Amino acid sequence: MELKSGNVRLRPLRLSDAERLVELANNEKISRNLRDGFPNPYTLADADNFLAKFTNQDPVTFFGIEYAGEHVGNISLVPGQDIYRKSAEIGYFIGESYWNKGIVTTAVNLITEYGFKNLGIIRIHTGVFEYNIASMRVLEKCGFIKEAVFRKSVFKQNKIWDEVRYSKINPEFGG
Ligand SMILES: CC(C)(COP(=O)(O)OP(=O)(O)OC[C@H]1O[C@@H](n2cnc3c(N)ncnc32)[C@H](O)[C@@H]1OP(=O)(O)O)[C@@H](O)C(=O)NCCC(=O)NCCS
Repeated sequence: MELKSGNVRLRPLRLSDAERLVELANNEKISRNLRDGFPNPYTLADADNFLAKFTNQDPVTFFGIEYAGEHVGNISLVPGQDIYRKSAEIGYFIGESYWNKGIVTTAVNLITEYGFKNLGIIRIHTGVFEYNIASMRVLEKCGFIKEAVFRKSVFKQNKIWDEVRYSKINPEFGG
């Protein structure tokens, strides 16, 4: 399974991605925007544990993002459970030296279309910490709608923050 647009390719994760993943992920400017499950420092053991869970998936929901043939980050859809199983949460990051080249905008468009067409997902959503303007911009460029602010819901780096919630609905279901 691979998804491609121009120089950006999404492909399944591999156990051999571990060292590169540490290079990309071991950065406080990345972890500050993500849940605490994405640690800092980000060690080789963290990468190995993560990859052991998310390689050999069927269907694939965690992808490596490649830019011009190089692994630069990851993107995922995590489907909900029970009555929320037609919804999925999107998550992503890329290494700092690749920011602001339009890479994640392309990756979000690719995985959103895949989620709607191949996984039968109807709603894709996520929450962005109030200070993460770049991520909100990505979602807006991809047609996600800001639908709520979960006030003071995030405790991150010893402070409390608002979370801005975005979603996009499968066009076949009125989105
Ligand atoms: C957020 C992140 C995924 C964006 O990826 P990216 O590939 O750099 O995104 P793109 O280049 O496609 O788009 C970024 C947009 O944000 C804008 N932007 C970046 N920093 C900005 C800032 N401080 N203020 C306003 N706009 C900003 C860019 O100009 C660009 O918009 P434009 O195309 O209208 O000019 C990336 O910075 C990242 O991995 N951050 C750390 C992890 C993270 O935040 N993950 C998401 C958690 S919700």
